[in-house]
Amino acid sequence: MCGIIGCVQRGGDCWPRVYDGLKRLEYRGYDSVGVAVLDQNAIGIRKKKGGADALADAYLKGGAGIGHTRWATHGAPSDENAHPHAAGKFALVHNGIVENFAALKEELVAAGEVFLSETDSEVIVKLISRAYTGDFLRAVRDGCARLEGSYAIAVLCEDFPDTVVCAKCKSPLVAGTGADGVYVCSDIPALSGVCGSICPASDGELICLVGQRVLFYDFNLNAVDKTFTPSDGGSAVRERGAFTSYMEEEIADIPRALSDTYAALKGMDFTACARKLAAAERIFAVACGTAFHSTLSFRFVAEKCLGVPVICERASEFRYKTRLIQKDDVLVAVSQSGETADTAEAVKRAKAAGAYVVSVTNVRHSTIAALSDTNVPMRANAEIAVAATKSYNCQLMCLFTLAAEACCKKTGVYPSFYYDLPALSFAAREAFSCFPEVDALASRLKEKSAMYFLGRDADFVTAVEGALKVKEIAYVFSEGYPAGELKHGTLALVEKGFPVIAIVTQKSLAKKTENAVAEVIARGGYVALFSPFESVLKESAAQFCCKIPAVREELAGAVSVIPLQYFALRMCQLRGHDPDKPRNLAKSVTVE
Ligand code: M6R
Repeated sequence: MCGIIGCVQRGGDCWPRVYDGLKRLEYRGYDSVGVAVLDQNAIGIRKKKGGADALADAYLKGGAGIGHTRWATHGAPSDENAHPHAAGKFALVHNGIVENFAALKEELVAAGEVFLSETDSEVIVKLISRAYTGDFLRAVRDGCARLEGSYAIAVLCEDFPDTVVCAKCKSPLVAGTGADGVYVCSDIPALSGVCGSICPASDGELICLVGQRVLFYDFNLNAVDKTFTPSDGGSAVRERGAFTSYMEEEIADIPRALSDTYAALKGMDFTACARKLAAAERIFAVACGTAFHSTLSFRFVAEKCLGVPVICERASEFRYKTRLIQKDDVLVAVSQSGETADTAEAVKRAKAAGAYVVSVTNVRHSTIAALSDTNVPMRANAEIAVAATKSYNCQLMCLFTLAAEACCKKTGVYPSFYYDLPALSFAAREAFSCFPEVDALASRLKEKSAMYFLGRDADFVTAVEGALKVKEIAYVFSEGYPAGELKHGTLALVEKGFPVIAIVTQKSLAKKTENAVAEVIARGGYVALFSPFESVLKESAAQFCCKIPAVREELAGAVSVIPLQYFALRMCQLRGHDPDKPRNLAKSVTVE
């Protein structure tokens, strides 16, 4: 969702750092951008519709500043709705949703306030301004006390040079200290390389950047002692180099990400969480989007090797089923960012029910990691493109390892697939050799307006993940379907030239998926088949066949998805879209 940054810069010129922060935060939202800087006792504001580039020629002098990249919730992307919003002596940036904003706005309008934007955020700055009697921190606290919903805010006040006051409730906020200044930001990765140490805020806390100090307060305005930890330089936001997009660079990084994740997992102590998983009579797994697809793969592997049911739920739906989760259950929560609001909420509810929580995240000090009993870290490093690619492959590596560790705890031996995990990185690199063929397929299908992805059992998961990628960045309607379900309704849409992409990585199921291929072709459809088996490809009626690397079947999803990720990328580019910033989306979904 929106990205916020605040800083007090040593030497008194904060613009370059705030602007650089906005570029790093752009993946959180990119429909408008804005900066406010306090110079002496005057606040200057520059804001515009568009991405960070819209402010490339702007500059404001001053040492304390706040910045914002917007992902619109209330009010269309426009100069007026861009943050910062101002009232009286204050300017504010906000990430989150003020759920009672309509009632607050009505009250403020009745009191004579005039609103310049359609945003929910403008009510916050007005509340703060009206609460102000000379105490900046108290005014921010009092303004926030009226809010329902979620917020991370950073505020400037003309009476307080070199000061930024922030508050957090349910939206992420982290403070950091660096050689050149002190910072707050909605994202740990955006501070990497800038800050030597970081400290995430908890809900209900306020942060005050004053001069070169970072002070934390609780909601009663008592000082809170916090511990700063060294920031993870490994996750620093990278340049995309010679690649056409971050997404392309991130796909190319999959072998490295898999091998680093494998190495990190080897060094991890799984004793506590493996014991819990081994003893559980059922396991819940929650996540959103691509991360949810990872949980489906986990189910196939964990159910087989642990012999207990794994119940996968989209995190946004899990809240309606929390009555089912109990003390002896284990919840596995998966999230690249570690900040997805629905997943964090599911974790909180599971904890409240007394369940043990294992999380898999790519950001070590994230909200979800902090809430969990055990955190299993991926080493995908920063993923900038909105479409998740390398984080998905790494999630599978973590989840397969988790299942294997639990299995070993339960039975005394590792399942045989455990020994093939290090080979995934090599197989991933091998998968790149499919790209010229995939490129040709994308060229052939680039004008299509809909397609199906089919697979059985674990290949069904790869199908839904491939379909999500194509939908998300190429804007082509696509649906992942179990191959056996085709004739129960879906086949009705297949007509001459309708594209279907089929995946077969389990030989025992090849004949059955081939039946679906034949049914599509009999109706004039166009089938592209991906499989590691020469014989399956040779015997198929599919018009396009692509051989993918052979990987043992429990682990195949971590590799068979790669040609589909690349297919989505090429479909997107050939249709003239930007893969890194798909319309209407943001990388980190921190509102429910
Ligand atoms: O950060 P998370 O893994 O929790 O994010 C979950 C989803 O929002 C995310 O996977 C989304 O579906 C991707 N953009 C899909 O490519």
